[in-house]
Formats: sequence, structure tokens, C-alpha cells
Amino acid sequence: MIKINENYLKLPGSYLFSTIAKKVKAYQETHPDADIIRLGIGDVTLPLAPAVIRALHEAVEEMGNAATFHGYAPDLGYSFLREEIAKKDYQDRGCQIDADEIFVSDGAKSDCGNIQELFDETAKIAVCDPVYPVYVDSNVMAGRTGEYDEATGKWSNVIYLPCTMENNFVPQLPKEKPDMIYLCNPNNPTGTTLNRDQLKVWVDYANENDAVILYDAAYEAYITDDDVPHSIYEIEGAKTCAIEFRSFSKIAGFTGVRLSFTVVPKALKSGDASLHDMWARRHGTKYNGAPYIQQKAGMAVYSEEGRKEILEQVAYYKRNARTIYQGLKDAGYAVAGGVNSPYVWLHTGEMTSWEFFDHLLEDANVVGTPGSGFGPSGENYFRLTGFGTYESTAEAVKRIQNLKR
Ligand SMILES: Cc1ncc(COP(=O)(O)O)c(C=O)c1O
Repeated sequence: MIKINENYLKLPGSYLFSTIAKKVKAYQETHPDADIIRLGIGDVTLPLAPAVIRALHEAVEEMGNAATFHGYAPDLGYSFLREEIAKKDYQDRGCQIDADEIFVSDGAKSDCGNIQELFDETAKIAVCDPVYPVYVDSNVMAGRTGEYDEATGKWSNVIYLPCTMENNFVPQLPKEKPDMIYLCNPNNPTGTTLNRDQLKVWVDYANENDAVILYDAAYEAYITDDDVPHSIYEIEGAKTCAIEFRSFSKIAGFTGVRLSFTVVPKALKSGDASLHDMWARRHGTKYNGAPYIQQKAGMAVYSEEGRKEILEQVAYYKRNARTIYQGLKDAGYAVAGGVNSPYVWLHTGEMTSWEFFDHLLEDANVVGTPGSGFGPSGENYFRLTGFGTYESTAEAVKRIQNLKR
């Protein structure tokens, strides 16, 4: 028999989005005239900004000319982009991150999933509950999570940090000591944030307990409130305990283009071992670099014009999220998120997440995402996103407001 990695067999099926698609399809077949509005999507919908499109065209032209053709990219990223990121995303915000601490990649999803390779197989992970599933599933594949209990929806060897209305969506320090702590700020799916003081608690805890924080800042561009840090390195002590993931997907509409970066500070060490050097070694061995065309397009995001254009797009999605947040609040729902995030997280009251899904689909023809799909503490919650058009978002909110409660 072929010797496979049996940990893969432990993964429960990822039914969330396929079940949603099936239910919507079935409803559509029996109600062909229904005007269904989809606010479940986590993908952007606006086209790429003009400055990005121009950069892409220019880069393609360069690739067609022997004098300007680019082959393999440097595996850690072109220095023009690493320097721009270090300056504009970090040094300009007072964070002393150098260009050679930036690792350019093709997606935060891949980096969040791959980073666990740097850690021992016995390392214990802590995740917020509900959670972006990649953090857990990538550790399941590596054999770190123990056994899955269908009844509770939990893995025996994972520390869950419930984030609910009761604790204002702020994870509390665990009793049991984790080695790897995943934090997503602003959070997917709840749309909530940790402010500087709340994040400092985790940075201090990680430093005191020899733990590493794996900090996903994919939604950084949506931050509105001044007390929410854009980077974990704004917090004193973070360079010795944190790795940060960023993505061009939700800030600049690169979901279909693919570009991201990860910051591994040189000060992050385990004894004499440098995690920076380990990640560089991994990149060099398993990755051949994000394409030149994408990295040129990434540069356009930092140009004055590009920056203005992409922030207008983010503002558009934020307006949608605020419209959902306020509309639902006015209708009497308990809501979170929606201010520093494209996501609105609402409490479904007496209904389970899936009951609410059916109710919204059948009675308002609006599609969202059941919170229980993101973890046990997501039960009785529901996610709506600001990634639709403004008109359809406003219409969806009106329909939800008109529902009998
Ligand atoms: C929290 C979080 N991290 C990472 C990603 C993936 O980003 P990328 O498109 O760069 O792979 C997503 C995408 O939905 C996300 O929600």
C-alpha cells in the first residue's frame, strides 16, 4: 500500500461553501424569478484600479522584449517591491522593519498555510473561535491537532479562544500554554478588531511564554479606528515574537492576480535558530518567486495615483459594510464588525446559523454565510460582506429590515 500522510484523512469535509452553493441552486431552480443577492462572498468585485492595469500592461510589454524580459524572480521578491513595502507599510508608520525582512509571495493563504512547517510537530496551536479555516486545517495536515470530535466540532489538541459577544470578540489568554498563536486583525469572519492595548497583552504573553504570534493582517487597509494597529510591529516587543502576513487581495483587488508578503523579523529566534533564515531557506527551496508582472503591479499600489484609487475601492466596500451594519442594527439585530472590516457579523437570535441562512434565502432572497461554518463559537452568528455593489447591498438591507422578526 502507498504510504500516505494519513493526517489528510482526518480532515472533515469542507462543506460550508459547497452546501451554500447547493442550497442556492436548489432554491433558484424552484424560484426562477427570484432576484437573489449574494452577500456571502469574500471575494472583491470591483475591477483592478487603472494604475494597476497600466503597470500590468507595461510589465507584459517588457516581457515581450529581450532587453527587458524577466525570467525567474528572486525567490524572496524583487528588491524594488521589498524596499517600497518596508518604507511605506512599516517605516512610515514608525516600525523598524527592513526590506530584507519582507518575503514577497503569491498569497497570504499559502503563507499562512505553509508557515507551520517551521515549527515542531508537537507544537501546540491556539486559534480564535470562529476562525479562518486555513490556520487549523494546515496544522491538521501536519499532524499537530489530535483527533476531531464531530459533536463539539473541535480538535483534541487545539486551544480554542472563543470570541463572542460575551467577551466583545476579544480572545482571552488561555490557561494552557500554546506554542503558536494565530491572530487575525481585523478578523475574518467577525470583522472585529484588537486595539493596541489588547494586542500588547498578547505580545507580552508570547514573549514571556516563548510562543510565536502568527498575525494575519490581510484586512489592514479597512482599519478606520486610530487605536487599531495596522501592523503588529507597532506594538513594542513584537519583533521578537511575531510573524505578519499581508495580502494585496482585499486592499487592491488582487484576488485573481495573486500577490502578498510575509514579514519575518531577524530578531525572531528560537535559541540560536533564526526563523527569518529558516523561512528564507524554505522560500529558496520550495518557491520560485512571485511573477515579475505581479510585482510590478504591486508597485503601482504604492504610487500616489494607485494608492488613491485603491483606497477609493476600499472606501466603497466599507460604505457597503457600514450600510449593512447600520441597517441591521436599526432593525434590532445585535451586530459586530463593519467598521474596520468589510465583514458584518450578526447574531441570529433563537435560530441556528443554518436556520437563519434558510430564512434569509427564502424570505429575503439574500445569501450570507452561516457562522457555524467557521467554528463552534460561530453558531448563532452569520456573516454578511460588503463586497457586493452598493445598490444590491442597500436593497438586501431593505429586504432584511422588512422581514418579520
Ligand atoms: C484572514 C484571511 N487571510 C488570508 C486570506 C487569503 O489571502 P490571499 O488572497 O492573499 O491568499 C484571506 C482571504 O479571504 C483571509 O480572509
